[in-house]
Amino acid sequence: MQRLIINGGKRLNGEITVQGAKNAALPILAASILCGEEVTLKRCPEISDTYSAMRILNSLGCSAGFDSSAGNTAVVNTSSLSRFEITDKLMREMRSSIFFMGALIGKTGECRMSFPGGCNIGQRPIDIHIAALKKMGVTVTEEYGSIDCFCRNKLRGAKITLSFPSVGATENIILASVLAEGTTVITNAAREPEIVCLADFLNKCGGNINGAGGGTIVIEGVKELHGCEFEIMPDRIAAATYLACTASAGGEIAVRGCIPRHIEAVNSVFEQMGCIAHTSADTVFFSAPRSLRAVDIIRTTVYPGFPTDCQAFVMAALCRAEGTSVFVENIFENRYRHTEELRRMGANIRAEGKVAVVEGVKRLYGAKVAAPDLRGGAGLAAAALSAEGTSEISGVEYIDRGYEEIENALSSLGADIKRV
Ligand code: EPZ
Repeated sequence: MQRLIINGGKRLNGEITVQGAKNAALPILAASILCGEEVTLKRCPEISDTYSAMRILNSLGCSAGFDSSAGNTAVVNTSSLSRFEITDKLMREMRSSIFFMGALIGKTGECRMSFPGGCNIGQRPIDIHIAALKKMGVTVTEEYGSIDCFCRNKLRGAKITLSFPSVGATENIILASVLAEGTTVITNAAREPEIVCLADFLNKCGGNINGAGGGTIVIEGVKELHGCEFEIMPDRIAAATYLACTASAGGEIAVRGCIPRHIEAVNSVFEQMGCIAHTSADTVFFSAPRSLRAVDIIRTTVYPGFPTDCQAFVMAALCRAEGTSVFVENIFENRYRHTEELRRMGANIRAEGKVAVVEGVKRLYGAKVAAPDLRGGAGLAAAALSAEGTSEISGVEYIDRGYEEIENALSSLGADIKRV
């Protein structure tokens, strides 16, 4: 198994261009099923989750892959779609394969997949997804861990109110309704930028979706979608990750090719910590002082609030801040597994239920730690950059799910990091 070796204590300097967004690329790769022609996706991150999504597409009879002559360019043609079942093995590779449910049903009226199951940040139920699909006329049977969806005629548009503004459920409903009969209205929809990106992609393919990014989204079903060439939005969580690494290690960096407005809530926390973030249209110029201030309370919430995906690596930066910071994780019920690993590095953190209390300590020490999940792993890397001595992070396969060669990104900013 691969590991990251980080020698901490070096301040970061330089600039980095952020990758395309994992959480936009995944639903858009699934959405390509709805277009009967070739789709070209620029700025598609080359990470294990996008490769998993391509394996699923190929297993359904489509052709999907990266164009080796052009970096970060995915080419997908789903005109040869011939199956509607996703194997258990492929489902287990990536929980986000749940997006394929809406796309497959939207295109073929049926889909069979195994229950995506929880992952290490929580149960990850799909009750909201299923309730919505049933309202659109889909028969859903769940037994022995597999889900069978079937709709004899075309799906029909429906008025759907989400009990929680679930990102995945909002995206799945959009995917299922874009070719449905009539109008679908989603109220209490998730507002994440990745949903706007998905709607932009589908509209460019001939869809008719209005209101994405707000709480009410209206989808007018259309007869068919054509292909298109589309650029994936920048990854706001990856951008915030590199800022948190700089806050943790100290230094001054520029994150280029991002959309600063997408990470306003995170930047405001960095500023409470004593960092400075100046922004232009597509760049964050960021500098971090030698010692950080604690932040009274950080609550994770839905967009545009502080994102749950940023909790782990912002906590890592706060481990050496002066004072006590409190986190409340309101989105996932098991997203503090990185705290026990941070304690191995000398952090003083107590986590109980939704709450984690971080008492700042003078220094962290390099240690052997294990990434518990994708963002927790990024948090351990951020902490290791500021620790005295050498850290060894195992479970790099989790980090590779969402970050393109994180070791190259961080070493381009001056970090002493290598993958073994
Ligand atoms: C998406 O997950 C992201 N993943 C997550 O990013 C992100 O943390 C999350 O949205 C919140 O922003 C992708 O986009 C691929 P939700 P998703 O449905 O769609 C509960 C990362 O690190 N819920 O908004 O699964 C659920 O249990 C990943 O990049 C139900 O109860 O998030 C959770 O507590 C991690 N029933 C809450 O809602 C449902 O039917 C938020 O889930 C669906 C969700």
